[in-house]
Amino acid sequence: MDYFLIKGKSKLSGEVKISGSKNASLPMLCASILLKKPIKYKNLPNLSDIRFMLKILQGLGAKVVKKEPYIKIHFKELANNEASYDLVRKMRASFLVIGPLLARNKSAKVSLPGGCAIGARPVELHLKVLEAFGAKISVKDGYVYAKAKELNGTTFTFPFISVGATQTAIMTAVTAKGKTVLKNVSKEPETIALAKMLNKLGTKITGLKTDTITIDGVNINKLRPGLRSIKLPPDRIEAATFMIAASITNSKIKIKNIISKELEILISSLEQTGVKIKKAKDYLTIDATKLKEIKPFDIETSAYPGFPTDIQAQWMAYMARAKGSSRIEEKMFENRFMHVAELNRLGADIKVSGNLATINGVEKLTGAPVMATDLRASASLVIAALATNGTTRINRVYHIDRGYDLIDKKLKKLGVDIERKKEGKV
Ligand code: UD1
Repeated sequence: MDYFLIKGKSKLSGEVKISGSKNASLPMLCASILLKKPIKYKNLPNLSDIRFMLKILQGLGAKVVKKEPYIKIHFKELANNEASYDLVRKMRASFLVIGPLLARNKSAKVSLPGGCAIGARPVELHLKVLEAFGAKISVKDGYVYAKAKELNGTTFTFPFISVGATQTAIMTAVTAKGKTVLKNVSKEPETIALAKMLNKLGTKITGLKTDTITIDGVNINKLRPGLRSIKLPPDRIEAATFMIAASITNSKIKIKNIISKELEILISSLEQTGVKIKKAKDYLTIDATKLKEIKPFDIETSAYPGFPTDIQAQWMAYMARAKGSSRIEEKMFENRFMHVAELNRLGADIKVSGNLATINGVEKLTGAPVMATDLRASASLVIAALATNGTTRINRVYHIDRGYDLIDKKLKKLGVDIERKKEGKV
């Protein structure tokens, strides 16, 4: 198992280029199941989660050809309609194959994902929406069986916003018969990217970026990949992580290949703490060189355009060094404070009560061995480690490799003293 050794009191300088978005890539790859013709993707990030999704698609019958900078996927035939427990338990997003499998094959067998480190994360909304299209759903021995003679357009109001369930609904609706109206949908940029990709293939989705989207179903045989490739949008969570890393280390860096508009809530939150940010459409310059002390700033997580739960842990690491106390309310997941104990090992003073964390800023953090518990938790440990006095060893960095493309190499290029080492080797 790999671990990171990070020497603290780092200063970052220079430029970093953000990779393609993991959370956009995963549903966009699943959408290839709807196509009988080959489709090319460009700018897929080099991540274990992406490699894993490609394996799942291959298991379902896709021919995957990698030819830099493209990956071509061809689903001429479906080899089977099953995503096993072994696959879905390793990555929850695998469950997203259910909608397109059902649309293409009229039946699907997909393992229930089960809980994960950040909470129970049920999928009942995905199942309810599939039923609304006319699918018969049964759950047996840990598997969801979905069957439908025909999928029919429907009107469905989500009781609360779910990114994944909205994506399942979209991928099912696009080839259902008739009109679908989906209310209280996810407006996350990754959901919009999926819908835009589908529209390029010939689907009819309107109302994007609003609470209600309307979809006029088209015949699945009429879907055609365009002549050009599908380009994955940049990863806003990766960008956010570098923005916070520069802020906590009093650094100035340029972050390229981003969509600034998607980062507005973080930009304004960082500005409230005293950081100067120069904005352009596709890059940002973060300047924290004159930041004498970090002003505490409270956040609560919510659906887009609110503060993303995927940046909560990184924000907490930042607030650990603020001058004063701040609060974080985690409103999306019930158990997303696993990083607290590890941050406290680095000298932070954070207390948790239910879904509320109170962070009393400390003057210094100190290096220590810590353990990554999930993807974004590991990013928060990297951020804290950059600001410590001493060296931090972060174990189990396979979590970070799921969602950050070459993070150690990118940090090294920015001037950070970071080494990737293998357990058992000195
Ligand atoms: C996606 C993101 C994840 C991010 C999350 C919230 C991907 C691959 N993952 O996850 O990084 O943290 O959005 O922005 O894009 N819920 C139910 N029942 C359901 C579905 C969801 O109770 O059927 C709950 C979840 O447990 C959670 C909340 O709804 O508490 C939001 O989850 P959801 O938006 O569905 O997150 P994911 O799509 O799993």
